Amino acid sequence: MKVFLTGAAGVMGRSSIEALHHAGHDVVGLVRTREQASQIAATGAQPWLGDLFDKSALVAGMKGCDAVANLATKVPIGKGALRPGSLKAIDRIRLHGSRIVVDAARQAGVERIVQQSLSFIYADQADDWIDEGSLVDVTTATEPVVVAEDNVRAFAATGGTAVSLRFGLITGKDRNTAWLFRRAAAGRSIGLGEGESWMHTIHPDDIGTAVAYALTAPGGIYNVGAEPVRRRDYVDAIAIAAGRASGRFLPHWIERIGAEKLEILTRSQRVSRAVQRSDGLAPGAPCLVARMVP
Ligand SMILES: NC(=O)c1ccc[n+]([C@@H]2O[C@H](COP(=O)([O-])OP(=O)(O)OC[C@H]3O[C@@H](n4cnc5c(N)ncnc54)[C@H](OP(=O)(O)O)[C@@H]3O)[C@@H](O)[C@H]2O)c1
Repeated sequence: MKVFLTGAAGVMGRSSIEALHHAGHDVVGLVRTREQASQIAATGAQPWLGDLFDKSALVAGMKGCDAVANLATKVPIGKGALRPGSLKAIDRIRLHGSRIVVDAARQAGVERIVQQSLSFIYADQADDWIDEGSLVDVTTATEPVVVAEDNVRAFAATGGTAVSLRFGLITGKDRNTAWLFRRAAAGRSIGLGEGESWMHTIHPDDIGTAVAYALTAPGGIYNVGAEPVRRRDYVDAIAIAAGRASGRFLPHWIERIGAEKLEILTRSQRVSRAVQRSDGLAPGAPCLVARMVP
């Protein structure tokens, strides 16, 4: 297949290019700078210069493609997330960008869209397992994610196939994990929420595996990630890998300051991989700890 990727130079894009090439697909990657274009070209993908909000550039790049994977994001790192307006760019990408991608794909005659999404949108379910049918808790922080899924679902309603991949927290060689490592190495707190609560995480390599799988999967929503881990174990694993004896949690008053932006990072989410296992999607990252060390 020929696949058009948005966010091609980002952490999800790079993983997807590798997995898609491995599976024998051709990739056209949307990038915004000449430097990113050179990086993409070096992988063997065809760079396409343009912006997510420029529909005509998207339509031109998508011409002749069988599928589109919308992986563009702009997520604030670390304390930057607490600044007013910090989610403006990512919200715009999810609320409006996803709509533009769908319109462009329809116009270009693309048959399938894969939308990156987040398992953070599930409601806190304490120790109960969460699957794709579980309750979603919509707040100002999660609404744009739900809207992006709805926008691609509308693509399915007009005859295309739409797959939304609800990824866990990306943990690996990426800027957010690097920020956590730096803080932990300095002996500072990195944990939010309760130590006994559950987290859903994903190694960047598994993102590409999932995107490649989504090119032939039945349309719908899929949870994608490693086995859930207790937050205490995650925080300790990062700290130990960063050279400390154990990890520390932030005081709860910080969560109150961060309000809905931080609340999604405290939800207990014991997310099931049952669907992926039966379909062979994201074939396991059972030992998250070992794979996290950069
Ligand atoms: N599930 C998760 O846990 C999750 C999800 C997303 C991100 N993150 C994390 O958040 C951190 C920051 O990530 P990031 O969102 O900045 O991702 P990133 O890895 O830099 O990738 C995002 C890509 O989308 C592109 N993009 C953004 N806006 C665009 C636009 N208007 N038009 C075309 N392309 C556009 C970016 O291009 P430019 O470089 O030109 O902006 C970039 O190549 C990373 O550590 C990542 O792992 C985690």
